[in-house]
Amino acid sequence: MTTLFTNPPNSALEIAEAQRLGDVLYGEKKRRSSLGQYATPIDVARLMASLFEFRNTDVVKVLDPGMGAGVLSLATIEEFSQTKTSNARIEVTGFEIEQPAIAAAGENFLVASAEVSELNYELKNEDFLCAKDTLCGYTHSIINPPYKKLSSSDHRQAGLRELGVHAVNLYVAFVWKALLELAPGGQLVAIIPRSFANGTYYRPFRKFLRDNTRVKQVLLVDQRTSVFSADNVLQENVIISLEKNFSSTSNASNTTLSWIDGDHLSLQFERKAAAHEIWWDAENTCVLRLLKEMDADSFPTYSLEDLNLTVSTGPVVDFRSEDYLLPAKDPAAYPLLRPRHFANGRCIWPNASGKRAGGIMKREETKKFFWPVGFYVVVRRISSKEEPRRVVASVVCPSDFNTSAICFENHLNVYHIDREGFSEDLAFGLCNYLNSEVTDRFLRSISGHTQVNAGDLRLLPYPSAEQLRASAKT
Ligand SMILES: C[S@@+](CC[C@H](N)C(=O)[O-])C[C@H]1O[C@@H](n2cnc3c(N)ncnc32)[C@H](O)[C@@H]1O
Repeated sequence: MTTLFTNPPNSALEIAEAQRLGDVLYGEKKRRSSLGQYATPIDVARLMASLFEFRNTDVVKVLDPGMGAGVLSLATIEEFSQTKTSNARIEVTGFEIEQPAIAAAGENFLVASAEVSELNYELKNEDFLCAKDTLCGYTHSIINPPYKKLSSSDHRQAGLRELGVHAVNLYVAFVWKALLELAPGGQLVAIIPRSFANGTYYRPFRKFLRDNTRVKQVLLVDQRTSVFSADNVLQENVIISLEKNFSSTSNASNTTLSWIDGDHLSLQFERKAAAHEIWWDAENTCVLRLLKEMDADSFPTYSLEDLNLTVSTGPVVDFRSEDYLLPAKDPAAYPLLRPRHFANGRCIWPNASGKRAGGIMKREETKKFFWPVGFYVVVRRISSKEEPRRVVASVVCPSDFNTSAICFENHLNVYHIDREGFSEDLAFGLCNYLNSEVTDRFLRSISGHTQVNAGDLRLLPYPSAEQLRASAKT
């Protein structure tokens, strides 16, 4: 990995870094945010470019969509110059929607072409997602795309769908379209949020990746790092290196999984994983699983269905129920359980902390939220980053209340059977398992988010009901 500042001052790449540090590429904050404008630091750009191979070819054709000042393609040119063995040429095509950024890229490429005689380039001040006349046949693409949502009514969606691209987020649209424009065997390196790795919305993208690319390498960066934290601190980012037209389900396909320290970009841990390990539950959810240790077999093998349980998000949403909320101490109040009512695996209701109401009235309109008291297990949807484990589970017991019914607020996930509780020993056993290191390890392998949704909990493997009941007693 190249992580040091090795060039003489004022190379094109270093000028691009100075533009990032000088904050001259983009305009005011709102526009920055709407166009996902965060420039890549030079050492991250070099690390990304170092993942490319430059095989025997006369022309290396690089696509840099959303190029900003060109730091990624400039790092690719640097890597190409340092590692190429033949008389190959390098051609760069860049797309950038923002005028000051593409103007900066233009100046930087002028400097670069004086540095590297084999360089040709074309920089387009265009929307990459609308571009129809692109060169195609690129051999390499390097991308730090915008990370914004792409709504289904966005004017670019029709054109994207014609290409077969199904994207709920700009970053997926950028990577998918760039992959379509690569030549067979072409390589793509992107830094993107890890959110695509699971969840229903991103499944078409994962299936496209699984069926059309080899995942050569995934680098996971410690999320607390300063270099990646600008936009999205709760979501991990990954650097992913892909090779086109190589089905990941092929046996020959091995992926290198690398964990790197975000502050120094130094390697902490690395291992090879077979395709069947990284594409977990390939036919259904097709989750991209990034498991640190080679111990896939050490997980339990039962599903939530096998346990006859369901997990749902708590049904009470504050802003839709405002007229019915009451202080917990009001004699007419039924318990409205929120994350603050749980500590050390147990429910404490009522409690004095927090501003939000701890009670709700029973009315025709709220009846649907009322579940009979019983043994339930709840998991907080949002755990703090400092929490040692992602899953924080607690048991709700009938003896916690003097009412016949209780309600669950939307920031909790609740395990139940048809909106009723289940047996005490199963509840305590399940809670122990959810709070265990095994659950934490599995969840971190399929999700890079600190938020835990019911969908994530449905994907977990579980011990059998007998094993859970037995563990309640230990
Ligand atoms: C996350 S920044 C990365 C910039 C640059 N690649 C880098 O690594 O520093 C994303 C870039 O995409 C540009 N952008 C956003 N939407 C675009 C679009 N539809 N077409 C082309 N560029 C776009 C933004 O202006 C911004 O410069």
